[in-house]
Amino acid sequence: MKLFKKIVDIQTWAEKIHKKGEDIALVPTMGCFHKGHLSLMQKGKELCNHVVVSLFVNPTQFGKNEDFNSYPENIKKDIKLAKTIDVSAIFLADKKEIYPEKFQTYVELTHLPSYLCGRTRQGHFKGVTTIITKLFNIIKPDKAIFGSKDFQQVQIIRQMTYDLNYNIEIIECPTVREDDNLAMSSRNIYLTSEQRKSALSLSRALKKAKKMIVKEKNLNGDSIKNEIERYINSFPFTEIDYIALCDPETLRNVINIKKSVLFALAIKIGKTRLIDNIIINPAK
Ligand code: PAF
Repeated sequence: MKLFKKIVDIQTWAEKIHKKGEDIALVPTMGCFHKGHLSLMQKGKELCNHVVVSLFVNPTQFGKNEDFNSYPENIKKDIKLAKTIDVSAIFLADKKEIYPEKFQTYVELTHLPSYLCGRTRQGHFKGVTTIITKLFNIIKPDKAIFGSKDFQQVQIIRQMTYDLNYNIEIIECPTVREDDNLAMSSRNIYLTSEQRKSALSLSRALKKAKKMIVKEKNLNGDSIKNEIERYINSFPFTEIDYIALCDPETLRNVINIKKSVLFALAIKIGKTRLIDNIIINPAK
């Protein structure tokens, strides 16, 4: 497994791979790997000759009051874990390499970032689309792999790939969960054992919303959200950022459910902000 720290080095390597007629799957990450990340790498192995994992805690996607300075890091362990999947390369650049002093170009979508997480995390998706654009330009992957837990992120990257004519296939992989259904996240390690119990409110709310829509035939978005709000508030430490029922493509709010909807949540448990989501088809 190769470890690249300089843009020019990974660029040269990726060009050589492509000249040989082999393809590359990119798995962009911010490190602190868990089984979710490993499943993305595994998918990359299935689909392409080479998997490149980028490991960069991207400062431009964190707001001023967010956890950039405390974001969990464990590079040595990450490198060991990536080796177990036999990825071809890790791209581990530092902040100066990615954002040199004279850097001044950002990539931003006009619509999709104004919903869900983008409402409270101002500028977050601008940071995400900028770093992903840079990674796409540097590595020129054939496929790029993302997890469904960040559903809005995947939609935004798909749209950006289309808008900017990248010849890159965006692959979405299912959320990997702990045994008790908590969605895996690098941020879960911030939770105390009491908060960890309250964190289960997210996955349980998804199940509850599905039951209301599919079994109980409640197709009114507002009434579902109100009930879920009461449910989440019944757990200690929870503070609701948003509860959304929306069109999976446009992310616009849905009041009368007629076809598949995205049910998405962002809940703060103490200081830790967690997200989760599910697509619910009212017919099944
Ligand atoms: O999902 C993440 O970890 C990040 O947003 C990403 C896609 C690696 C961009 O920094």
